[in-house]
Amino acid sequence: MKNIVLIGFMGCGKSTFGKKISKKLNYSFVDTDKWIEKQQGQSIPAIFASQGETAFRQMETMAAQALAKEEGLVISTGGGMVKTPATMEALSQNAVIVYLKATPEHIFQNIGNDNTRPLLQTDDKLGAICRLMAEREDLYQRYANITVTVSGHSITGTTNAILHQLEGLL
Ligand code: S3P
Repeated sequence: MKNIVLIGFMGCGKSTFGKKISKKLNYSFVDTDKWIEKQQGQSIPAIFASQGETAFRQMETMAAQALAKEEGLVISTGGGMVKTPATMEALSQNAVIVYLKATPEHIFQNIGNDNTRPLLQTDDKLGAICRLMAEREDLYQRYANITVTVSGHSITGTTNAILHQLEGLL
């Protein structure tokens, strides 16, 4: 049984949709950020502050390698996991990768008031979202087996679209 890996920008709804589709398909749900926080005994902002982004990316690779050994998981990833080829190589081993695509404005609406993302600690959050998204868009596309547009659709509509696109791929 393949895993289902959700990739996409911060705040696109990877955890929300991940939980919903895991229930529908009777898969277990795992969030890599939560997995890392548990393993480190530290929050993501604390890890960035004390150990830095490079160390965090290595933790993401370790999480991906550990989770890839399991099956029947829906894995919600951190938005920057696509930056590390070794992480994506591990995650791709036995998985269908779903890219949840959202506009910068939609992301801003979802997380504009959230101050827990270390990479968005700036007064110009929308600008930072646009810049980071432009840097990452090709990576999301490259690794995706299927792409589902989130912006402009209801949560139920998007959940059904993901389930529909997954048919025959698991
Ligand atoms: C990051 C996304 C975050 C978290 C960390 C870095 C990124 O996860 O892993 O703050 O580089 O895009 P979410 O995508 O769940 O916000």
